[in-house]
Amino acid sequence: MQTETAAREAPVRRPKISFVEVQKLYPGKGGQADGTLALDSFNFDLAPAEIVSIVGPTGCGKSTALNILAGFETPSSGTVSVDGQVVTSPGSNRGVVFQQPSLFPWLSVLANVVLGVKCRGDPPKEYEPRAMRLLEEVGLKGFERHYPYQLSGGMQQRVQIARALINEPDIMLMDEPFGALDYQTRLLMQKLLLRLWAHFRPTILFITHDVGEAIFISDRVIAMTKRPGRVKREVHVHAPKPRDYEFLGSPEFTRLEHDLILAVQSEVEGDEVVAAH
Ligand SMILES: Nc1ncnc2c1ncn2[C@@H]1O[C@H](COP(=O)(O)OP(=O)(O)OP(=O)(O)O)[C@@H](O)[C@H]1O
Ligand SMILES: [Mg+2]
Repeated sequence: MQTETAAREAPVRRPKISFVEVQKLYPGKGGQADGTLALDSFNFDLAPAEIVSIVGPTGCGKSTALNILAGFETPSSGTVSVDGQVVTSPGSNRGVVFQQPSLFPWLSVLANVVLGVKCRGDPPKEYEPRAMRLLEEVGLKGFERHYPYQLSGGMQQRVQIARALINEPDIMLMDEPFGALDYQTRLLMQKLLLRLWAHFRPTILFITHDVGEAIFISDRVIAMTKRPGRVKREVHVHAPKPRDYEFLGSPEFTRLEHDLILAVQSEVEGDEVVAAH
């Protein structure tokens, strides 16, 4: 009775996203026997409006985890839930941004951004002003009528982000979105992402190979083991957001960067890397 009262008084904050005992086996030519076990016992939660990055060795299952959450892949066992509902298909509550811009070359920037809502049958007078505001917000005011080939890689990623945000999703899934950009543009995009987060407050799952990028933008960084991927290490980043470049030289940043580089490199090279320190 006492426990019930306590539970009523202090409600547990439900996670926004939960990975529970997720396993993913991609079948091989001979079926499961020669398949690839990409994820095994993969567990973790994201809180509402939290920004979590995943780092880990190449091929450890990062994209697989994101694709299951996006609804593009199904787990072999275990579950991925959003707001307590098991994910079984893609949905407009999850905006996805990939490394390679996947814009339609024959459509203008504006037409690319609104394509999804237009196909849904929403009236243009409702979504066009929203798209124009979004394009301004991602720094593309004046480029609405341009075509993708007229834009730099960074600008194309800005269009992708605007396109993902047009549905006002409460979750953003980003798979190495800045991986193909030069260092300076990447820094700009990281700050842009933090600005957009402050405005829209989505929950963000962000995959990157760049440990510094992960720390700069995240509340929490997960380092995965080599395949089959599991959570190996988890660090919290306490610096308040929005962050500026001063954070890159701070003791907290340097300590977390060292910690995460060792966690990932020990998976890539074996445990002797850690022993040597
Ligand atoms: N559709 C697929 N069919 C078969 N095997 C796959 C498929 N997708 C991924 N894999 C395999 O699953 C493992 C995990 O792949 P995944 O793409 O999730 O890794 P990753 O961590 O995102 O790697 P990277 O850092 O290189 O992007 C790899 O061994 C990969 O070859
Ligand atoms: Mg990947």
